[in-house]
Amino acid sequence: MTDTSQPTTASITVGDSELDLEVLPATIGSPGVDVSKVRASLNAVTYDPGFANTAGTRSAVTYIDGGAGTLRHRGYAIEDLAEKCTFLEVSYLLLFGELPTREELDNWTTSVRSHTLLSEEMKRFFDAFPRSAHPMAILSSATNAISTFYEAYYDPKSADAFYQSAVRLIAKMPTIAAWAYKKSVSQPYMYPRNDLTYIESFLNMMFGLPVEDAKVDPVVARALNVLLILHADHGQNCSTATVRFVGSSDANLFASVAAGMNALWGPLHGGANQAVVEMLSEIHDDPDMTMEKAIERAKDRDDPFRLMGFGHRVYKNFDPRAQILKRFADDVLSRVGIDDPLLEIAKQLEAAALEDEYFVSRNLYPNVDFYSGIIFRALGFPTRMFTVLFAIGRLPGWIANWKEMHDDPATRIARPRQIYEGPILRDYLPITER
Ligand code: SDX
Repeated sequence: MTDTSQPTTASITVGDSELDLEVLPATIGSPGVDVSKVRASLNAVTYDPGFANTAGTRSAVTYIDGGAGTLRHRGYAIEDLAEKCTFLEVSYLLLFGELPTREELDNWTTSVRSHTLLSEEMKRFFDAFPRSAHPMAILSSATNAISTFYEAYYDPKSADAFYQSAVRLIAKMPTIAAWAYKKSVSQPYMYPRNDLTYIESFLNMMFGLPVEDAKVDPVVARALNVLLILHADHGQNCSTATVRFVGSSDANLFASVAAGMNALWGPLHGGANQAVVEMLSEIHDDPDMTMEKAIERAKDRDDPFRLMGFGHRVYKNFDPRAQILKRFADDVLSRVGIDDPLLEIAKQLEAAALEDEYFVSRNLYPNVDFYSGIIFRALGFPTRMFTVLFAIGRLPGWIANWKEMHDDPATRIARPRQIYEGPILRDYLPITER
């Protein structure tokens, strides 16, 4: 089913030469103008720094309408998935394209549950890090490290190797995350528990001890389930594009995902949830850093300060995930009995920004990171674990995009061109003459 209102013809003129271009239809949203023959035909390259206007692939995983604030995974609205599904169910949908039947979900859950343990040698790997190590550094390193136990599954062309790698990544990521946290607080590593759900087992590994299990509040488990679903995929964002790029060289899935984790860590991307809480805490704790000052600094082009959690490369309307999280935050904090002053500051900051011409004229709205950190904090996670939680959520999205890239020969060994601006040719000068 294609949107018949989409244009079907395009052309480009460079100097005296004109080239007709094929228009690739989208089922919904923007069609693509195929410029793959421009360089060979017109001896020119197209220029789109940051690829904000360029599709590097065709995809059927996630649809985002930035103007309408719409987000759908395999055609299903994020609001439905967040309210009605489990995270493993949404992971199955992203990886295999369909919501699972009861039998498929049970088999998938059993597969994941069978691979949650890390090899015992990995304990020495975690022991090697300083207690102060940022958990995102541990997460990406450990993701590469566990791949050394699964070289049998490196082949990107094998469907079985893909499945075995995908299951192990989704199964083991909570264990790696929890062990990174336990390392930071000098507590014993906890083992996963197959008598608990995926989320409950993760919470027990995080907050339990060998001497007593964590008391997993169903409200907390439900909240974390929703949070992971809201982070599960988001089109060709920076980290997902990184996973595709690295995977396009036929690097294995573990190495590709580890690269995506490093991209996600940046404060302009997934690291923003940590930066938001640090910003709100600074406003709360520092009498000189008022809300008004934060907004004025964010508007000052000469000040690198940004209103973290605001703005988006795609959304020029509300990020639907932020909408869900804003409604969710009140419920979660009241249900777990936490009165976090940062939530009130966040709401006031949002209200002030949305009345400010600078933000309104630039369509800057809260994104997924603006409220997620406050909820993660209410669930008991330390600030430096927030991006790790984002990574656990985004994992099925990265894996689904990696698989889709491998299924499309056109996207193999990504290699963008450039506009060269350097010196044309210079004679070598021996160092004695420089
Ligand atoms: C994520 O791509 C994805 O899908 C990412 C993500 C996902 O699920 O994978 O959604 C997750 O990364 C969310 C974004 C988290 N990052 C932050 O919250 C960091 C703060 N936000 C910004 O740094 C910024 O908004 C970006 C990086 C997210 C987007 O930057 P852009 O593309 O430059 O934003 P823009 O083009 O819309 O900016 C237009 C103007 C610019 O000013 P002018 O040149 O017009 O004067 O708005 C300004 C920007 O400088 N601006 C901000 C701002 N964000 C943009 N000014 C103050 N505070 C901000 N937060």
